[in-house]
Amino acid sequence: MARLTILGVGPGDPDLITVAGLKALRQARTVAYPVAEPGGEGMAARIAAPWLQPEQQRLPLHFPMTTAAAPCRLAWRCAARQLLQAVAERPPVAMLCEGDVSLYASASYVALQLQTMAPSPLRVSMIPGVTAMAATAAAAHWPLALQSQQLLVAPAPETPTALDALLAKAEVLAVHKVGRRWPWLREALQQRGLLPQALVAERVGWPDQRLIPAAELPPGACSYFSLVLVRQAWPPVLPWDAGDAVAAV
Ligand SMILES: C[S@@+](CC[C@H](N)C(=O)[O-])C[C@H]1O[C@@H](n2cnc3c(N)ncnc32)[C@H](O)[C@@H]1O
Repeated sequence: MARLTILGVGPGDPDLITVAGLKALRQARTVAYPVAEPGGEGMAARIAAPWLQPEQQRLPLHFPMTTAAAPCRLAWRCAARQLLQAVAERPPVAMLCEGDVSLYASASYVALQLQTMAPSPLRVSMIPGVTAMAATAAAAHWPLALQSQQLLVAPAPETPTALDALLAKAEVLAVHKVGRRWPWLREALQQRGLLPQALVAERVGWPDQRLIPAAELPPGACSYFSLVLVRQAWPPVLPWDAGDAVAAV
């Protein structure tokens, strides 16, 4: 068994952890998880709470909410050192990650950081998780990509021009990190006639989950834990005739 496992716990519903993830979590003597501020709880830890055992040592890892290089690099180095120490003192260690470990995840940086400093032969295992995007698609019965369609996963752009650049590249967009950008994004989608084909998913998998046709969500700020799926087109071959396609969006 790996002495350090980085595992995705899914986007909110504790039942969406994988069997492999749950096995690794149950075997762990130390459970690490990201927190946005010291003393904070952390989304991943909240999601995995039903699976944690009292005797497991908790190791919160602080990742500040910034994109500035210096504090990010410091946080990744610090987290990697804390994990190495936990591996030496109280293995095996499980590090939890909200959603999947490879999508906009602090866990990805930590894994890269460890490659630069881990004493070999430290075995690090990565267990994928259900992404918020996949959970949204399933909950809303909203197929992400069909036939030869391209799906583009992106953080919310900052300007309408940047949105157009994304729209030019793919039939379906999965826009992450929407939050305060919703008012202008809504307006831009409306101007491009895409509002009726867009879906907003807020806090998927949580008890207060909302799946809302974008046209029905007014232009206030939405939760940081929101994403918008935008479909520009359906593929040509579908279970219904082309003329009916709009009704099926
Ligand atoms: C830092 S990224 C983490 C993505 C995550 N690793 C995944 O695999 O889905 C955070 C963004 O993912 C999306 N997200 C994460 N959890 C979500 C949820 N439960 N409901 C809706 N969107 C979510 C939001 O767009 C949020 O701004």
